[in-house]
Amino acid sequence: MPRVLAGLPLIMPQSPAAALALPLLLLLVVVVVRPPPQTGARPSPGPDYLRRGWLRLLAEGEGCAPCRPEECATPRGCLAGQVHDACGCCWECANLEGQLCDLDPSAHFYGSCGEQLECRLDTGGDLSRGEVPEPLCACRSQRPLCGSDGRTYAQICRLQEAARARPEANLTVAHPGPCESGPQIVSRPYDIWNVTGQDVIFGCEVFAYPMASIEWRKDGLDIQLPGDDPHISVQFRGGPQRFEVTGWLQIQAVRPSDEGTYRCLARNALGQVEAPASLTVLTPDQLNSTGIPQLSSLHLLPEEEAESEEGEDYY
Ligand SMILES: *[C@@H]1O[C@H](CO)[C@@H](O)[C@H](O)[C@H]1NC(C)=O
Ligand SMILES: *[C@@H]1O[C@H](CO)[C@@H](O)[C@H](O)[C@H]1NC(C)=O
Ligand SMILES: *[C@@H]1O[C@H](CO)[C@@H](O)[C@H](O)[C@H]1NC(C)=O
Repeated sequence: MPRVLAGLPLIMPQSPAAALALPLLLLLVVVVVRPPPQTGARPSPGPDYLRRGWLRLLAEGEGCAPCRPEECATPRGCLAGQVHDACGCCWECANLEGQLCDLDPSAHFYGSCGEQLECRLDTGGDLSRGEVPEPLCACRSQRPLCGSDGRTYAQICRLQEAARARPEANLTVAHPGPCESGPQIVSRPYDIWNVTGQDVIFGCEVFAYPMASIEWRKDGLDIQLPGDDPHISVQFRGGPQRFEVTGWLQIQAVRPSDEGTYRCLARNALGQVEAPASLTVLTPDQLNSTGIPQLSSLHLLPEEEAESEEGEDYY
């Protein structure tokens, strides 16, 4: 068998006649059907590296020609750096984090991972649903870094990608660990209205390093909630992302006196931010007299409609 298929032992048929045609056909199916890997906001791996896979297959089928470096094309825009091609002659772009790679170092279909990356079987998928783990380039380090641009990078591979994407910015590692920053509100509380007796919840998600603390206040009250009010409760939890904390303010069985503006305040040693949201409380009578058609019970009211169309009338 040609060396090129060494990385795909599972689909090698026994019959010599089908030996070449079937694997190529299956490869085509695999390649066409496979969804593009998750790369977040980074440039699409695109058909380009699959095309390179095919070029590699064809080139290897013919064996390596004597190396003439002057005939090599110069790879451009390699965000994960450069690696030698299968023949050890020309340079080509290495694969980025999250792109497919060849687990078997002697195979060269998907190509090699770049600097600081290694090819690992991705067991993150749902194997119980029959998903097959895929070999993907993964960063060797998972430690966050602060870049010289003042931005936090999840790990060195992300920082290097950004540095290669904008060489003119001279991006370097400022120090290990996230950049220190005042809090930023990732998800703010939004304005709510409801009928007396219902429970309402405000939420507030904050990113900061060092970690922020969150407190809730109501305009006109000089206390930090909940104070001694038994129908108000406050809860915090770390996350959902690293260096984030999320806080909730719950008011049970709202009364008209609960109306007002509530504020999420987040602070750490470097700063403080706040986000206000208003609560409007309607009595059933007020609700009835609004003339909202077909509104006999709150439970029949679709939530989005209530908020987008009727909500604004009462602020
Ligand atoms: C990057 O470095 C070069 C050479 O040292 C310098 O000319 C250029 O101004 C630097 N760019 C930035 C954004 O600092
Ligand atoms: C009012 O509160 C109830 C219970 O908390 C909730 O199910 C309902 O969606 C809320 N209505 C509006 C208009 O927000
Ligand atoms: C709402 O108004 C209708 C008539 O306009 C009345 O029959 C119904 O009892 C009212 N409901 C409430 C909760 O006041």
